[in-house]
Amino acid sequence: MRIGTPLGPDPTRVLLLGSGELGKEVAIAFQRLGVEVVAADRYPHAPAHQVAHRWHAIDMTDPVTLATLIEQESPDLVVPEIEAIATAVLADVEATGTTVVPTARATRLTMDREGIRRLAAEELGLPTSPYAFAETLDDVHAAIAHVGLPCVLKPTMSSSGKGQSVLKSAADAEGAWEYARTAGRVSNPRVIVEGFVEFDYEITQLTVRHAGGTSFCEPIGHRQVDGDYVESWQPQPMSDAALAAARDVSGRITEALGGRGVFGVELFVRGDEVLFSEVSPRPHDTGLATLATQRCSEFELHARAVLGLPVDTTLRSPGASAVVYGGADLEAPGYEGVAEALAVPGADLRLFGKPTASARRRMGVAVAEADDVDTARDRARTAAGLVRVVPRG
Ligand SMILES: Nc1ncnc2c1ncn2[C@@H]1O[C@H](COP(=O)(O)OP(=O)(O)OP(=O)(O)O)[C@@H](O)[C@H]1O
Ligand SMILES: [Mg+2]
Repeated sequence: MRIGTPLGPDPTRVLLLGSGELGKEVAIAFQRLGVEVVAADRYPHAPAHQVAHRWHAIDMTDPVTLATLIEQESPDLVVPEIEAIATAVLADVEATGTTVVPTARATRLTMDREGIRRLAAEELGLPTSPYAFAETLDDVHAAIAHVGLPCVLKPTMSSSGKGQSVLKSAADAEGAWEYARTAGRVSNPRVIVEGFVEFDYEITQLTVRHAGGTSFCEPIGHRQVDGDYVESWQPQPMSDAALAAARDVSGRITEALGGRGVFGVELFVRGDEVLFSEVSPRPHDTGLATLATQRCSEFELHARAVLGLPVDTTLRSPGASAVVYGGADLEAPGYEGVAEALAVPGADLRLFGKPTASARRRMGVAVAEADDVDTARDRARTAAGLVRVVPRG
């Protein structure tokens, strides 16, 4: 492994596809290792654009536009940060010898709930909630009859809880179906209906595939509201049996996806039983807590793993993260209360610098360490609550 000089004649160049807050931290991790970073997103001045050597605002769902950018930049590594990408282009790029992280197939399978669910449940035999797919309202009713009530209906192509509903009775089917079809990422009528899992808690098992094998981070607990994460903490206490099951499931699904990098395996835990939910083939939003907890954050682990470098998943301290939301529609917003937030013991902030805010848009995160998880959660929530996203000027 040799790293060249950024902006020189022979740099080691990474192209980030997606430049949000997770991409920003990945870009910083690459920058620290002397890698040349090119960041793409659909709008200008996205978080990772601001810390990259070069940036592009393009439509990454358009195959021609994406292929042209990759040809123009000729990166050593293509690192997707989001799911909304023309993944067919990535397969072509991989076939010509450029590394796609973790693999082109993994990015294709995980952007589609059907691809990843069938791989996990039907090919690997991993435990999941009961599920069925539907393309018409009649199919939805058949799916509900199959999985039972309550159940969750989701677009097959969506993230951050968009288009998701919990159904308590068959009468909820039509509204949920309409909502999924209009809120999904692409106009794809296909939905998944999943049995509602009464879990005790849910975790993200960060799993790193690297040159030396597969390593597991301590489990991350998190709380979701409307399908979007609001706080996370590490380590989540688990029984030995549940932890062993979580690592077994995570090892198997990540091995099936292949390649190198960090994976966020989302699992539901009920007693000693662990159900696979989904997996991101990249750092996970709930893993922002690792900025406060681990010797190497999940972003540093990702950068190291994809470059073929050694990783260290050691937990340094219990810790937590809490999200700062925009609260309202704002252009070029400001942040207030930063001093008060940073005065909270053990707390730190990441302010994403997004050019516009909206009510539910994630604009920053507070992270905190402490001697125990409960104190860390209090500190992170307190710090996040002190930050206010305000109109400019
Ligand atoms: N079958 C289920 N039973 C119970 N809760 C569920 C189920 N499916 C999803 N949830 C809840 O909704 C959350 C979001 O679901 P899921 O992870 O499938 O959606 P997502 O849109 O991919 O969200 P994200 O992108 O934030 O991970 C889960 O973390 C969990 O809290
Ligand atoms: Mg999820």
